[in-house]
Amino acid sequence: MTEEIVKSALSKVMYPGFTKDIVTFGFVKDIAINETAVSFSVEITSSAPEVAQQITDEATEALKAVGVTAVNCNIKAPKMPKESSSHGKNIAPQVKNFLMVSSGKGGVGKSTTSVNIAIALAAQGLKVGLLDADIYGPNIPRMMGVADVKPEVNGNKVLPIKAYGIEMMSMGSLMEEGQSLIWRGAMIMKAIEQFLRDILWSELDCLVIDMPPGTGDAQLTLAQSVPVTAGLTVTTPQSVSLDDSRRSLDMFKKLNIPIAGIIENMSGFIAPDTGVEYDIFGKGTSTPMAKEFDTEIIAEIPIEPAVRTGGDEGKPVTFSAPDSESAKRFVAAAASIWATIEEINANGGVDNQSVQPTTPPGVSACSTGGASSAPKQGGGCGCS
Ligand SMILES: Nc1ncnc2c1ncn2[C@@H]1O[C@H](COP(=O)(O)OP(=O)(O)OP(=O)(O)O)[C@@H](O)[C@H]1O
Ligand SMILES: [Mg+2]
Repeated sequence: MTEEIVKSALSKVMYPGFTKDIVTFGFVKDIAINETAVSFSVEITSSAPEVAQQITDEATEALKAVGVTAVNCNIKAPKMPKESSSHGKNIAPQVKNFLMVSSGKGGVGKSTTSVNIAIALAAQGLKVGLLDADIYGPNIPRMMGVADVKPEVNGNKVLPIKAYGIEMMSMGSLMEEGQSLIWRGAMIMKAIEQFLRDILWSELDCLVIDMPPGTGDAQLTLAQSVPVTAGLTVTTPQSVSLDDSRRSLDMFKKLNIPIAGIIENMSGFIAPDTGVEYDIFGKGTSTPMAKEFDTEIIAEIPIEPAVRTGGDEGKPVTFSAPDSESAKRFVAAAASIWATIEEINANGGVDNQSVQPTTPPGVSACSTGGASSAPKQGGGCGCS
């Protein structure tokens, strides 16, 4: 028996949920061969017992097929993700953590970031959902390659659409293509609530939420409906974008949402032919702002044609071009975000009690009886 034969056999074992095998992922380590007995370890990123079992079973079968008589597969899995320890109102209690992806300005790469971070989190073995809360400009279905897929309806609930190992829902998947609606404030709030309550999300470790640009009704409603574990701001390096990003970071602060970091997108340009990195909009200009808000730039994503074509063609770069610089940086950013989320939970989690609508004493938030301080119908109280 040779290491080559062992590796080639193990490269038939796909990592559960992915189309890539455990050898290509680089998970197989410490191969030791003694005649026809083989031992090796597989360092996986998932703590789910069924993932470990499936890999062990398939690896054993693949090795036996090439003549191995004794297989010792040692799975090294991370410890179970900590349960969310967040408090307050949560209308989607099967979701443990919520990541709000926000920007002050449109077109800076929020949706691109949301898609790639969600896929990178799933590649870590987490159960991930992606909610396109940009009801005005839902782009996620196209970016996820499911623009033509209509979701299944189960009673009065809707099943999320599955792609690239994650669950996804978007207004774009619920409406006819090209249709537009004029959204009034109350409708936006209602839509956000329904996305959380009436979509049959699985038990998720993390729901990544792509917000519309700016700081408005959608952001407030989300923060009031679920305890948002962490916020991620996407910016581009130009000063005009930074001004707007400051507002987005300030919003997180006002809503008591811990900041998981800033992604500086379109930070430099990597020429596809030479791989040389050019500075176009500037680079690293967000650092002082990060300091101001006691956070960090967790990734500088260059302008890379693969990122744009990945979005247009529905083949996100973290999946379709994992060796590209952007993909590697998205993966590193996702790891950093998850570490922050675990730390937040270890320290007691978040609480959205302080951002609930205020009502006069003795008056329910839902009885809008004309009191001027009471919220309008659908004002996030969750029972309209
Ligand atoms: N790093 C990058 N390199 C190349 N193209 C990029 C990069 N980031 C984003 N793009 C492209 O820029 C366009 C805008 O990105 P995206 O839709 O993600 O921005 P957004 O902030 O979600 O916009 P909106 O505010 O309209 O929702 C898309 O066509 C996307 O593919
Ligand atoms: Mg978008």
